Amino acid sequence: MSHNELGGNEPGELLAATDAVDTAGSTRRPDPLCLVIFGASGDLTRRKILPALSRLATRGSLPEEFTVIGVARTPLSDEEFQRRALEAADGGGSPEWKRRVARFSYVAGDNADPAMFTRLCERLSESDLKGGTAGNRLYYLATVPGQFAAVVRGLGKAGINIAGKMGGFSRLVVEKPFGTDLDSAVRLSAAIHADFDEDQIFRIDHYMGKETVQNILALRFANSVFEPIWNRRHVDHVQVMVAESLGVEGRGGFYEQAGALRDIVQNHLMQVLALTLMEPPGAAEGDVIRDEKVKLLRSVVVFDEKQAVSQVVRGQYGAGSIDGVAVPAYRDEPGVDPLSQVETYVAARVDVDNWRWAGVPIFVRTGKRLRHHQTEVRMVFQRPPHLPFAGKLARDLRRDSLTLRIQPDDGISLAFGAKVPGPTFTISNVAMDFSYSEQFPGQTVDAYDRLLLDAMVGDPMLFIRDDEVQRAWTILRPLQGAFAQGEPRLATYEAGTWGPEEADRLIGTVERHWRNSE
Ligand SMILES: NC(=O)c1ccc[n+]([C@@H]2O[C@H](COP(=O)([O-])OP(=O)(O)OC[C@H]3O[C@@H](n4cnc5c(N)ncnc54)[C@H](OP(=O)(O)O)[C@@H]3O)[C@@H](O)[C@H]2O)c1
Repeated sequence: MSHNELGGNEPGELLAATDAVDTAGSTRRPDPLCLVIFGASGDLTRRKILPALSRLATRGSLPEEFTVIGVARTPLSDEEFQRRALEAADGGGSPEWKRRVARFSYVAGDNADPAMFTRLCERLSESDLKGGTAGNRLYYLATVPGQFAAVVRGLGKAGINIAGKMGGFSRLVVEKPFGTDLDSAVRLSAAIHADFDEDQIFRIDHYMGKETVQNILALRFANSVFEPIWNRRHVDHVQVMVAESLGVEGRGGFYEQAGALRDIVQNHLMQVLALTLMEPPGAAEGDVIRDEKVKLLRSVVVFDEKQAVSQVVRGQYGAGSIDGVAVPAYRDEPGVDPLSQVETYVAARVDVDNWRWAGVPIFVRTGKRLRHHQTEVRMVFQRPPHLPFAGKLARDLRRDSLTLRIQPDDGISLAFGAKVPGPTFTISNVAMDFSYSEQFPGQTVDAYDRLLLDAMVGDPMLFIRDDEVQRAWTILRPLQGAFAQGEPRLATYEAGTWGPEEADRLIGTVERHWRNSE
Protein backbone atom coordinates (compact mmCIF):
# COMPACT_ATOMS: atom_id res chain seq x y z
CA MET A 1 0.00 0.00 0.00
CA SER A 2 1.37 3.44 -0.83
CA HIS A 3 1.29 6.43 1.49
CA ASN A 4 -1.09 8.06 -1.02
CA GLU A 5 -3.68 5.47 -0.17
CA LEU A 6 -3.05 6.12 3.49
CA GLY A 7 -3.20 9.87 3.66
CA GLY A 8 -3.05 11.56 0.27
CA ASN A 9 0.44 13.08 0.58
CA GLU A 10 2.35 13.38 -2.62
CA PRO A 11 5.65 11.50 -2.62
CA GLY A 12 7.59 14.78 -2.80
CA GLU A 13 5.88 16.09 0.32
CA LEU A 14 6.64 12.96 2.25
CA LEU A 15 10.30 12.91 1.24
CA ALA A 16 10.70 16.57 2.12
CA ALA A 17 9.33 15.87 5.56
CA THR A 18 11.66 12.91 5.88
CA ASP A 19 14.66 15.06 4.97
CA ALA A 20 13.71 17.70 7.47
CA VAL A 21 13.51 15.34 10.45
CA ASP A 22 16.55 13.28 9.49
CA THR A 23 19.21 14.08 12.05
CA ALA A 24 21.93 12.25 10.13
CA GLY A 25 21.44 12.71 6.42
CA SER A 26 24.24 11.91 4.02
CA THR A 27 24.80 15.63 3.54
CA ARG A 28 26.66 15.77 6.85
CA ARG A 29 30.37 15.68 6.34
CA PRO A 30 32.81 15.19 9.22
CA ASP A 31 35.68 17.54 9.97
CA PRO A 32 39.14 16.49 8.77
CA LEU A 33 40.30 13.43 10.71
CA CYS A 34 42.55 10.42 11.00
CA LEU A 35 40.87 7.08 11.71
CA VAL A 36 43.10 4.64 13.58
CA ILE A 37 41.89 1.04 13.38
CA PHE A 38 43.25 -1.28 16.09
CA GLY A 39 42.79 -4.79 14.72
CA ALA A 40 43.36 -3.73 11.12
CA SER A 41 44.26 -7.26 10.00
CA GLY A 42 41.07 -8.76 11.49
CA ASP A 43 37.68 -9.94 10.34
CA LEU A 44 35.62 -6.93 11.44
CA THR A 45 37.94 -4.53 9.63
CA ARG A 46 37.78 -6.54 6.42
CA ARG A 47 34.07 -7.38 6.47
CA LYS A 48 32.54 -4.24 7.96
CA ILE A 49 34.77 -1.22 8.52
CA LEU A 50 36.63 -1.02 5.20
CA PRO A 51 33.52 -1.72 3.07
CA ALA A 52 31.60 0.94 5.03
CA LEU A 53 34.41 3.45 4.51
CA SER A 54 34.50 2.68 0.81
CA ARG A 55 30.76 3.35 0.50
CA LEU A 56 31.09 6.59 2.48
CA ALA A 57 33.94 7.65 0.19
CA THR A 58 31.95 6.83 -2.93
CA ARG A 59 28.94 8.73 -1.58
CA GLY A 60 31.09 11.79 -0.92
CA SER A 61 30.57 11.64 2.86
CA LEU A 62 34.24 11.69 3.88
CA PRO A 63 36.15 14.92 4.40
CA GLU A 64 38.85 15.65 1.83
CA GLU A 65 41.46 15.59 4.62
CA PHE A 66 40.98 12.00 5.73
CA THR A 67 43.56 9.32 6.49
CA VAL A 68 43.47 5.82 7.95
CA ILE A 69 46.20 4.18 10.02
CA GLY A 70 45.82 0.43 10.53
CA VAL A 71 47.39 -1.22 13.60
CA ALA A 72 47.92 -4.95 14.29
CA ARG A 73 50.79 -7.37 14.92
CA THR A 74 50.78 -8.96 11.44
CA PRO A 75 53.69 -7.36 9.59
CA LEU A 76 52.20 -5.49 6.63
CA SER A 77 53.63 -2.66 4.54
CA ASP A 78 51.49 0.40 3.81
CA GLU A 79 51.02 -0.96 0.29
CA GLU A 80 49.84 -4.36 1.56
CA PHE A 81 47.32 -2.69 3.86
CA GLN A 82 46.15 -0.53 0.97
CA ARG A 83 45.72 -3.62 -1.19
CA ARG A 84 43.55 -5.20 1.54
CA ALA A 85 41.48 -2.02 1.67
CA LEU A 86 40.87 -2.21 -2.06
CA GLU A 87 40.01 -5.91 -1.90
CA ALA A 88 37.55 -5.32 0.95
CA ALA A 89 35.42 -2.93 -1.13
CA ASP A 90 32.82 -4.31 -3.51
CA GLY A 91 34.47 -4.81 -6.89
CA GLY A 92 37.68 -3.14 -5.68
CA GLY A 93 35.84 0.11 -4.96
CA SER A 94 35.14 3.29 -6.88
CA PRO A 95 37.85 5.60 -8.30
CA GLU A 96 37.15 7.83 -5.30
CA TRP A 97 37.90 4.95 -2.91
CA LYS A 98 41.15 4.18 -4.76
CA ARG A 99 42.18 7.82 -4.46
CA ARG A 100 41.46 7.75 -0.70
CA VAL A 101 43.19 4.43 -0.07
CA ALA A 102 46.47 5.75 -1.46
CA ARG A 103 46.73 7.78 1.79
CA PHE A 104 46.24 4.79 4.13
CA SER A 105 49.18 3.59 6.21
CA TYR A 106 49.91 0.77 8.63
CA VAL A 107 51.79 0.40 11.91
CA ALA A 108 52.79 -3.14 12.89
CA GLY A 109 53.15 -3.92 16.57
CA ASP A 110 51.69 -5.32 19.75
CA ASN A 111 49.21 -3.27 21.74
CA ALA A 112 51.32 -3.92 24.85
CA ASP A 113 54.45 -2.42 23.25
CA PRO A 114 55.05 1.30 24.01
CA ALA A 115 57.33 1.48 20.95
CA MET A 116 54.31 0.72 18.75
CA PHE A 117 52.51 3.75 20.21
CA THR A 118 55.62 5.89 19.61
CA ARG A 119 55.50 4.87 15.93
CA LEU A 120 51.77 5.57 15.88
CA CYS A 121 52.37 9.08 17.27
CA GLU A 122 54.86 9.73 14.47
CA ARG A 123 52.33 8.60 11.88
CA LEU A 124 49.64 10.77 13.43
CA SER A 125 51.89 13.84 13.27
CA GLU A 126 52.64 13.02 9.65
CA SER A 127 48.93 12.70 8.96
CA ASP A 128 48.28 16.12 10.51
CA LEU A 129 51.13 17.79 8.66
CA LYS A 130 50.80 16.18 5.23
CA GLY A 131 47.20 15.01 5.30
CA GLY A 132 45.72 18.11 6.97
CA THR A 133 43.87 16.07 9.61
CA ALA A 134 44.11 18.90 12.15
CA GLY A 135 44.82 16.78 15.24
CA ASN A 136 41.41 15.06 15.03
CA ARG A 137 41.53 11.33 15.78
CA LEU A 138 38.97 8.55 15.85
CA TYR A 139 40.38 5.38 17.44
CA TYR A 140 38.41 2.25 16.55
CA LEU A 141 38.81 -0.79 18.86
CA ALA A 142 38.29 -3.53 16.26
CA THR A 143 40.61 -5.83 18.15
CA VAL A 144 39.82 -8.75 20.46
CA PRO A 145 38.03 -7.68 23.67
CA GLY A 146 40.97 -8.82 25.82
CA GLN A 147 43.03 -6.07 24.15
CA PHE A 148 40.67 -3.13 24.73
CA ALA A 149 42.27 -2.06 28.02
CA ALA A 150 45.83 -2.38 26.62
CA VAL A 151 45.01 -0.12 23.67
CA VAL A 152 43.34 2.49 25.86
CA ARG A 153 46.29 2.47 28.29
CA GLY A 154 48.75 2.74 25.41
CA LEU A 155 46.89 5.75 24.00
CA GLY A 156 46.79 7.33 27.45
CA LYS A 157 50.50 6.80 28.13
CA ALA A 158 51.40 8.19 24.73
CA GLY A 159 49.28 11.25 25.51
CA ILE A 160 47.16 10.89 22.39
CA ASN A 161 43.90 10.26 24.25
CA ILE A 162 43.38 14.00 24.54
CA ALA A 163 43.79 16.97 22.24
CA GLY A 164 47.40 17.63 21.32
CA LYS A 165 49.18 20.92 20.58
CA MET A 166 47.09 21.43 17.46
CA GLY A 167 43.84 20.96 19.38
CA GLY A 168 41.26 18.71 17.78
CA PHE A 169 39.26 15.80 19.18
CA SER A 170 40.14 12.26 20.26
CA ARG A 171 37.24 9.80 20.17
CA LEU A 172 37.14 6.12 20.89
CA VAL A 173 34.84 3.61 19.15
CA VAL A 174 34.31 0.44 21.20
CA GLU A 175 32.85 -2.76 19.74
CA LYS A 176 30.82 -5.20 21.79
CA PRO A 177 31.14 -7.17 23.99
CA PHE A 178 31.15 -4.54 26.71
CA GLY A 179 32.22 -7.06 29.34
CA THR A 180 30.78 -10.51 29.91
CA ASP A 181 28.88 -9.77 33.10
CA LEU A 182 28.28 -6.82 35.42
CA ASP A 183 31.63 -7.07 37.21
CA SER A 184 33.73 -7.29 34.06
CA ALA A 185 31.70 -4.48 32.46
CA VAL A 186 32.40 -2.27 35.48
CA ARG A 187 36.12 -3.14 35.28
CA LEU A 188 36.25 -2.43 31.54
CA SER A 189 34.42 0.82 32.04
CA ALA A 190 36.89 1.88 34.76
CA ALA A 191 39.84 0.95 32.51
CA ILE A 192 38.48 3.03 29.63
CA HIS A 193 37.44 5.94 31.83
CA ALA A 194 40.98 6.14 33.22
CA ASP A 195 42.00 7.64 29.87
CA PHE A 196 38.79 8.70 28.09
CA ASP A 197 35.81 10.71 29.28
CA GLU A 198 32.36 9.29 28.60
CA ASP A 199 31.63 11.93 25.96
CA GLN A 200 34.66 10.72 23.97
CA ILE A 201 33.40 7.12 23.91
CA PHE A 202 31.18 5.66 21.16
CA ARG A 203 30.04 2.10 21.99
CA ILE A 204 28.67 0.31 18.95
CA ASP A 205 25.65 -1.94 18.93
CA HIS A 206 25.18 -2.31 15.19
CA TYR A 207 21.42 -2.86 15.69
CA MET A 208 21.17 0.84 16.54
CA GLY A 209 22.48 1.64 13.05
CA LYS A 210 19.63 -0.20 11.38
CA GLU A 211 17.04 1.97 9.71
CA THR A 212 14.08 0.13 11.16
CA VAL A 213 15.42 0.30 14.68
CA GLN A 214 15.66 4.07 14.27
CA ASN A 215 12.23 4.00 12.72
CA ILE A 216 10.82 2.80 16.04
CA LEU A 217 11.53 6.36 17.20
CA ALA A 218 10.01 7.88 14.07
CA LEU A 219 6.93 5.70 14.22
CA ARG A 220 6.28 6.41 17.87
CA PHE A 221 7.19 10.08 18.10
CA ALA A 222 6.65 11.57 14.63
CA ASN A 223 3.03 10.38 14.45
CA SER A 224 0.04 11.12 16.57
CA VAL A 225 -1.90 7.91 15.93
CA PHE A 226 0.28 5.41 17.76
CA GLU A 227 1.37 7.08 20.98
CA PRO A 228 -2.13 7.40 22.52
CA ILE A 229 -2.55 3.61 22.36
CA TRP A 230 1.05 2.75 23.31
CA ASN A 231 0.34 1.89 26.93
CA ARG A 232 -1.26 -0.47 29.41
CA ARG A 233 -4.77 0.75 28.67
CA HIS A 234 -4.60 -0.55 25.08
CA VAL A 235 -1.72 -2.98 24.80
CA ASP A 236 -2.46 -6.55 25.86
CA HIS A 237 1.11 -7.77 25.66
CA VAL A 238 4.33 -7.23 23.71
CA GLN A 239 6.48 -9.76 21.86
CA VAL A 240 10.07 -8.99 20.90
CA MET A 241 11.93 -11.56 18.83
CA VAL A 242 15.46 -11.76 17.47
CA ALA A 243 15.47 -15.03 15.50
CA GLU A 244 18.37 -16.37 13.46
CA SER A 245 18.18 -19.31 11.12
CA LEU A 246 21.97 -19.54 11.04
CA GLY A 247 23.86 -21.73 13.48
CA VAL A 248 27.28 -20.89 14.87
CA GLU A 249 28.85 -20.80 11.38
CA GLY A 250 32.21 -22.29 12.30
CA ARG A 251 32.51 -20.03 15.37
CA GLY A 252 31.59 -22.74 17.87
CA GLY A 253 34.59 -21.91 20.07
CA PHE A 254 33.49 -18.28 20.32
CA TYR A 255 29.85 -19.17 20.95
CA GLU A 256 30.74 -21.61 23.73
CA GLN A 257 32.06 -18.57 25.64
CA ALA A 258 29.06 -16.41 24.77
CA GLY A 259 25.63 -18.04 24.51
CA ALA A 260 22.42 -16.30 23.49
CA LEU A 261 22.10 -14.28 26.70
CA ARG A 262 25.38 -12.44 26.21
CA ASP A 263 25.43 -12.48 22.42
CA ILE A 264 21.95 -11.05 21.80
CA VAL A 265 19.87 -10.37 24.92
CA GLN A 266 22.29 -8.07 26.73
CA ASN A 267 22.71 -5.77 23.76
CA HIS A 268 20.41 -5.98 20.70
CA LEU A 269 17.32 -7.20 22.50
CA MET A 270 17.62 -4.72 25.37
CA GLN A 271 18.14 -1.86 22.94
CA VAL A 272 15.08 -2.73 20.87
CA LEU A 273 13.06 -3.19 24.06
CA ALA A 274 14.16 0.19 25.43
CA LEU A 275 13.33 2.09 22.22
CA THR A 276 9.95 0.38 21.98
CA LEU A 277 8.84 1.04 25.54
CA MET A 278 10.61 4.24 26.62
CA GLU A 279 8.87 7.56 27.28
CA PRO A 280 8.84 10.26 24.57
CA PRO A 281 12.15 12.16 24.57
CA GLY A 282 12.15 15.94 24.71
CA ALA A 283 14.49 16.15 21.70
CA ALA A 284 16.20 13.86 19.21
CA GLU A 285 19.52 14.42 20.94
CA GLY A 286 22.04 11.88 22.09
CA ASP A 287 21.76 12.22 25.83
CA VAL A 288 18.04 12.97 25.88
CA ILE A 289 17.25 9.72 24.09
CA ARG A 290 19.80 7.76 26.07
CA ASP A 291 18.38 9.15 29.34
CA GLU A 292 14.97 7.80 28.34
CA LYS A 293 16.39 4.38 27.43
CA VAL A 294 18.15 4.14 30.78
CA LYS A 295 15.00 5.20 32.62
CA LEU A 296 13.11 2.41 30.89
CA LEU A 297 15.81 -0.16 31.65
CA ARG A 298 15.70 0.94 35.28
CA SER A 299 11.99 0.12 35.31
CA VAL A 300 12.58 -3.42 34.09
CA VAL A 301 12.00 -5.66 37.08
CA VAL A 302 15.17 -7.53 38.03
CA PHE A 303 14.33 -11.21 38.55
CA ASP A 304 14.68 -12.85 41.91
CA GLU A 305 16.08 -16.38 41.94
CA LYS A 306 12.65 -17.98 41.64
CA GLN A 307 11.61 -15.84 38.70
CA ALA A 308 14.95 -16.45 36.98
CA VAL A 309 13.85 -20.07 36.78
CA SER A 310 10.08 -19.79 36.34
CA GLN A 311 9.95 -16.86 33.89
CA VAL A 312 12.81 -17.91 31.68
CA VAL A 313 13.36 -20.68 29.14
CA ARG A 314 16.87 -21.78 28.24
CA GLY A 315 17.19 -23.88 25.10
CA GLN A 316 19.70 -25.49 22.78
CA TYR A 317 19.08 -26.69 19.24
CA GLY A 318 19.22 -30.29 18.23
CA ALA A 319 19.58 -31.59 14.67
CA GLY A 320 16.90 -30.62 12.19
CA SER A 321 16.49 -28.94 8.84
CA ILE A 322 16.40 -25.34 7.66
CA ASP A 323 14.74 -24.71 4.30
CA GLY A 324 14.90 -28.42 3.56
CA VAL A 325 18.63 -28.71 4.30
CA ALA A 326 19.66 -31.02 7.17
CA VAL A 327 21.70 -29.25 9.85
CA PRO A 328 23.58 -30.73 12.82
CA ALA A 329 22.80 -30.29 16.51
CA TYR A 330 24.66 -27.52 18.34
CA ARG A 331 26.69 -30.12 20.23
CA ASP A 332 27.89 -31.58 16.93
CA GLU A 333 29.17 -28.26 15.61
CA PRO A 334 32.97 -27.92 15.35
CA GLY A 335 34.51 -26.36 18.44
CA VAL A 336 31.51 -27.19 20.65
CA ASP A 337 31.72 -29.43 23.71
CA PRO A 338 29.63 -32.57 23.00
CA LEU A 339 28.07 -32.10 26.47
CA SER A 340 27.74 -28.33 26.15
CA GLN A 341 25.18 -26.64 28.38
CA VAL A 342 25.46 -23.33 26.51
CA GLU A 343 22.11 -21.85 25.53
CA THR A 344 21.37 -21.08 21.88
CA TYR A 345 17.85 -19.92 22.78
CA VAL A 346 16.37 -17.76 25.51
CA ALA A 347 12.78 -16.73 26.08
CA ALA A 348 11.62 -14.69 29.05
CA ARG A 349 8.70 -12.81 30.44
CA VAL A 350 9.82 -9.34 31.39
CA ASP A 351 7.87 -6.89 33.52
CA VAL A 352 8.27 -3.15 33.34
CA ASP A 353 7.19 -1.44 36.52
CA ASN A 354 6.21 2.03 35.50
CA TRP A 355 3.07 4.06 34.96
CA ARG A 356 2.85 3.16 31.27
CA TRP A 357 3.51 -0.58 31.33
CA ALA A 358 2.55 -1.90 34.77
CA GLY A 359 0.83 -5.27 34.39
CA VAL A 360 1.58 -5.67 30.65
CA PRO A 361 3.52 -8.88 30.04
CA ILE A 362 6.49 -8.38 27.73
CA PHE A 363 7.73 -11.58 26.13
CA VAL A 364 11.18 -11.66 24.57
CA ARG A 365 12.92 -14.48 22.76
CA THR A 366 16.01 -15.07 20.71
CA GLY A 367 17.58 -18.14 19.23
CA LYS A 368 19.81 -19.68 16.62
CA ARG A 369 18.66 -22.21 14.03
CA LEU A 370 15.08 -21.03 14.30
CA ARG A 371 12.73 -21.34 11.39
CA HIS A 372 13.46 -17.93 9.83
CA HIS A 373 15.90 -15.09 10.14
CA GLN A 374 13.51 -12.53 11.58
CA THR A 375 13.69 -9.67 14.06
CA GLU A 376 10.50 -7.94 15.04
CA VAL A 377 8.54 -6.18 17.73
CA ARG A 378 4.86 -7.00 17.97
CA MET A 379 2.48 -4.86 19.97
CA VAL A 380 -0.63 -6.95 20.55
CA PHE A 381 -3.68 -4.88 21.46
CA GLN A 382 -6.53 -5.66 23.80
CA ARG A 383 -9.78 -7.01 22.47
CA PRO A 384 -12.63 -4.54 22.11
CA PRO A 385 -14.54 -4.22 25.39
CA HIS A 386 -17.65 -5.63 23.75
CA LEU A 387 -17.90 -7.72 20.58
CA PRO A 388 -21.28 -7.28 18.91
CA PHE A 389 -20.38 -10.15 16.56
CA ALA A 390 -19.94 -12.66 19.34
CA GLY A 391 -20.03 -16.38 18.80
CA LYS A 392 -18.93 -18.20 15.73
CA LEU A 393 -18.56 -15.14 13.49
CA ALA A 394 -15.74 -13.60 15.47
CA ARG A 395 -14.62 -16.49 17.61
CA ASP A 396 -11.31 -17.00 15.84
CA LEU A 397 -10.56 -13.33 15.48
CA ARG A 398 -7.11 -12.51 16.75
CA ARG A 399 -6.25 -9.45 18.76
CA ASP A 400 -5.15 -6.56 16.56
CA SER A 401 -1.41 -6.17 16.37
CA LEU A 402 1.18 -3.80 15.04
CA THR A 403 4.39 -5.46 13.95
CA LEU A 404 7.62 -3.56 13.47
CA ARG A 405 9.74 -5.77 11.23
CA ILE A 406 13.39 -4.99 11.78
CA GLN A 407 14.88 -7.65 9.50
CA PRO A 408 14.65 -8.97 6.89
CA ASP A 409 12.06 -7.19 4.73
CA ASP A 410 12.05 -4.13 7.02
CA GLY A 411 8.65 -2.62 7.44
CA ILE A 412 5.54 -2.28 9.52
CA SER A 413 2.30 -4.16 9.37
CA LEU A 414 -0.99 -3.67 11.10
CA ALA A 415 -3.17 -6.72 11.55
CA PHE A 416 -6.86 -6.25 12.30
CA GLY A 417 -10.26 -7.76 11.63
CA ALA A 418 -12.34 -7.00 8.52
CA LYS A 419 -15.63 -8.28 7.20
CA VAL A 420 -15.36 -11.03 4.62
CA PRO A 421 -17.45 -10.06 1.57
CA GLY A 422 -20.64 -12.07 1.42
CA PRO A 423 -24.08 -12.49 2.92
CA THR A 424 -22.94 -13.45 6.43
CA PHE A 425 -21.23 -11.17 8.92
CA THR A 426 -17.98 -13.09 9.05
CA ILE A 427 -14.89 -11.29 10.26
CA SER A 428 -11.43 -12.30 9.24
CA ASN A 429 -7.88 -11.17 10.06
CA VAL A 430 -6.28 -8.97 7.44
CA ALA A 431 -3.02 -7.00 7.29
CA MET A 432 -1.93 -3.62 6.02
CA ASP A 433 1.68 -3.58 5.08
CA PHE A 434 4.40 -0.97 4.69
CA SER A 435 7.65 -2.22 3.21
CA TYR A 436 10.82 -0.15 3.24
CA SER A 437 12.25 -1.65 0.09
CA GLU A 438 9.04 -0.94 -1.85
CA GLN A 439 8.62 2.58 -0.55
CA PHE A 440 12.25 3.66 -0.66
CA PRO A 441 13.92 1.37 -3.20
CA GLY A 442 17.70 1.35 -3.10
CA GLN A 443 17.86 3.83 -0.23
CA THR A 444 18.87 1.52 2.59
CA VAL A 445 22.04 2.54 4.41
CA ASP A 446 24.17 -0.16 6.00
CA ALA A 447 24.32 0.07 9.80
CA TYR A 448 28.11 0.45 9.84
CA ASP A 449 28.03 3.30 7.29
CA ARG A 450 25.66 5.21 9.50
CA LEU A 451 27.47 4.50 12.76
CA LEU A 452 30.94 5.26 11.40
CA LEU A 453 29.70 8.56 9.99
CA ASP A 454 28.00 9.42 13.30
CA ALA A 455 31.20 8.69 15.26
CA MET A 456 33.20 10.85 12.84
CA VAL A 457 30.71 13.69 13.17
CA GLY A 458 30.53 13.18 16.94
CA ASP A 459 26.80 12.44 17.18
CA PRO A 460 26.33 10.07 20.14
CA MET A 461 22.61 9.37 19.73
CA LEU A 462 22.89 5.83 18.35
CA PHE A 463 25.74 4.74 20.64
CA ILE A 464 25.38 2.96 23.95
CA ARG A 465 26.17 4.86 27.11
CA ASP A 466 27.97 3.32 30.05
CA ASP A 467 24.94 3.39 32.35
CA GLU A 468 22.85 1.54 29.72
CA VAL A 469 25.46 -1.20 29.51
CA GLN A 470 25.65 -1.59 33.26
CA ARG A 471 21.90 -1.58 33.73
CA ALA A 472 21.50 -4.27 31.06
CA TRP A 473 24.04 -6.45 32.85
CA THR A 474 22.28 -5.81 36.17
CA ILE A 475 19.03 -7.09 34.66
CA LEU A 476 20.77 -10.20 33.37
CA ARG A 477 22.79 -10.95 36.50
CA PRO A 478 20.24 -13.28 38.18
CA LEU A 479 19.85 -15.15 34.89
CA GLN A 480 23.58 -15.58 34.49
CA GLY A 481 23.69 -16.90 38.07
CA ALA A 482 20.85 -19.35 37.44
CA PHE A 483 22.28 -20.50 34.09
CA ALA A 484 25.65 -21.16 35.74
CA GLN A 485 23.81 -23.48 38.18
CA GLY A 486 22.14 -25.33 35.29
CA GLU A 487 18.78 -23.62 35.91
CA PRO A 488 16.29 -23.59 34.34
CA ARG A 489 16.77 -27.03 32.84
CA LEU A 490 18.18 -26.85 29.31
CA ALA A 491 15.33 -27.48 26.86
CA THR A 492 16.12 -28.80 23.43
CA TYR A 493 14.42 -27.80 20.20
CA GLU A 494 14.68 -29.12 16.72
CA ALA A 495 16.60 -26.87 14.35
CA GLY A 496 14.20 -25.22 11.91
CA THR A 497 11.34 -24.88 14.42
CA TRP A 498 10.34 -21.84 16.47
CA GLY A 499 12.02 -23.09 19.65
CA PRO A 500 11.28 -25.39 22.56
CA GLU A 501 7.79 -26.30 23.79
CA GLU A 502 8.74 -24.83 27.15
CA ALA A 503 8.60 -21.38 25.53
CA ASP A 504 5.03 -22.04 24.39
CA ARG A 505 4.17 -23.02 27.94
CA LEU A 506 5.82 -19.83 29.25
CA ILE A 507 3.61 -17.55 27.18
CA GLY A 508 0.71 -19.95 27.76
CA THR A 509 0.78 -19.07 31.46
CA VAL A 510 -1.12 -15.90 30.54
CA GLU A 511 -3.15 -17.72 27.86
CA ARG A 512 -1.33 -16.07 24.98
CA HIS A 513 0.74 -17.60 22.21
CA TRP A 514 3.73 -16.60 20.13
CA ARG A 515 2.81 -15.06 16.82
CA ASN A 516 4.97 -17.12 14.47
CA SER A 517 5.17 -16.81 10.71
CA GLU A 518 4.95 -19.97 8.59
N1 LIG B 1 33.76 -10.02 13.11
C1 LIG B 1 32.57 -9.52 13.27
O1 LIG B 1 31.69 -9.63 12.41
C2 LIG B 1 32.21 -8.77 14.52
C3 LIG B 1 30.89 -8.33 14.68
C4 LIG B 1 30.57 -7.58 15.81
C5 LIG B 1 31.55 -7.28 16.74
N2 LIG B 1 32.82 -7.74 16.58
C6 LIG B 1 33.82 -7.37 17.58
O2 LIG B 1 34.91 -6.74 16.92
C7 LIG B 1 36.13 -7.04 17.56
C8 LIG B 1 37.08 -7.68 16.57
O3 LIG B 1 36.54 -8.91 16.10
P1 LIG B 1 37.14 -9.70 14.86
O4 LIG B 1 36.15 -10.72 14.52
O5 LIG B 1 37.59 -8.77 13.80
O6 LIG B 1 38.42 -10.41 15.52
P2 LIG B 1 39.72 -10.96 14.78
O7 LIG B 1 39.45 -11.30 13.36
O8 LIG B 1 40.30 -12.00 15.67
O9 LIG B 1 40.70 -9.69 14.75
C9 LIG B 1 41.39 -9.28 15.89
C10 LIG B 1 42.38 -8.21 15.50
O10 LIG B 1 43.09 -7.80 16.65
C11 LIG B 1 44.49 -7.86 16.39
N3 LIG B 1 45.19 -8.19 17.62
C12 LIG B 1 44.95 -9.24 18.46
N4 LIG B 1 45.81 -9.22 19.50
C13 LIG B 1 46.63 -8.14 19.30
C14 LIG B 1 47.71 -7.58 20.02
N5 LIG B 1 48.17 -8.13 21.16
N6 LIG B 1 48.29 -6.47 19.55
C15 LIG B 1 47.86 -5.89 18.39
N7 LIG B 1 46.84 -6.37 17.66
C16 LIG B 1 46.22 -7.48 18.12
C17 LIG B 1 44.60 -8.96 15.34
O11 LIG B 1 45.71 -8.77 14.54
P3 LIG B 1 47.10 -9.55 14.61
O12 LIG B 1 46.81 -10.98 14.88
O13 LIG B 1 47.67 -9.26 13.26
O14 LIG B 1 47.82 -8.88 15.71
C18 LIG B 1 43.38 -8.68 14.48
O15 LIG B 1 43.65 -7.65 13.59
C19 LIG B 1 35.74 -7.94 18.73
O16 LIG B 1 35.54 -7.14 19.85
C20 LIG B 1 34.43 -8.55 18.30
O17 LIG B 1 33.65 -8.95 19.39
C21 LIG B 1 33.16 -8.47 15.49
